[in-house]
Amino acid sequence: MGVTAVASSDSAASSQAEVTAEIEAIAGAYTEGAESQPRLDYPPYRSSLLRHPTKAPQQADPEGVELWAPVFGQLDVDDAEADLTAQHDGEPQGERMVVTGRVLDGDGRPVRRQLVEVWQANAAGRYIHERDQHPAPLDPHFTGMGRCLTDDDGVYRFTTIKPGPYPWRNHRNAWRPAHIHFSLFGTEFTQRMITQMYFPGDPLFPLDPIFQSVVDPAARSRLVATYDHDVTQPEWSTGYRWDIVLTGPHRTLLEVDTEAAE
Ligand SMILES: [Fe+2]
Repeated sequence: MGVTAVASSDSAASSQAEVTAEIEAIAGAYTEGAESQPRLDYPPYRSSLLRHPTKAPQQADPEGVELWAPVFGQLDVDDAEADLTAQHDGEPQGERMVVTGRVLDGDGRPVRRQLVEVWQANAAGRYIHERDQHPAPLDPHFTGMGRCLTDDDGVYRFTTIKPGPYPWRNHRNAWRPAHIHFSLFGTEFTQRMITQMYFPGDPLFPLDPIFQSVVDPAARSRLVATYDHDVTQPEWSTGYRWDIVLTGPHRTLLEVDTEAAE
């Protein structure tokens, strides 16, 4: 959510123009194709300066991790959990949409029976979270969390509401592009991936230091869903498609912030 994502009061005082200039300077110095993951230490994203890892990752024994990692069974996930518009007695406000896609490995093979979890703001850009107190309305008919398992073709599918953009305190008048947070558990807990999906044509893209911390333009574009008219449902919902690749050179980017808050 980003409400607490402030490195200091000084950083929050930066203007959008100052942050945009920093983003553009970094982009201008970037050699295309040199990086595919977000920068851990990305000064325009102020809090990344203080909370990025400074040491190499600790190597974990996958089998040992499995002894204390969370476990779930396929029966624990109900099909109804994939419909975020049907969790309350009434209809949530906003643009109803279907978000679907395939989870693939680096060789293009479907990752089957994969737990996919999503969380998101409501249509007004507000999360149900005590730290999100910005003056946009909560929706009594929308919680903003869902999960499903991929099918035999690696396909996940959610029905939800298009989230709104929201302000955060990285700098003065900072706004996040609309996005949906995704978490995927691999076949092992150590493969867990957290990332964000964006919507095509968002005017906030060039202004957002989190989106721009992925400095490679092609890699950044892989975080943006595609509007797909074949996914829409007549008189019911629009539709977006977004595939997720867990390994290999075209893998979807891991989110820098392990708190996954913004
Ligand atoms: Fe968010």
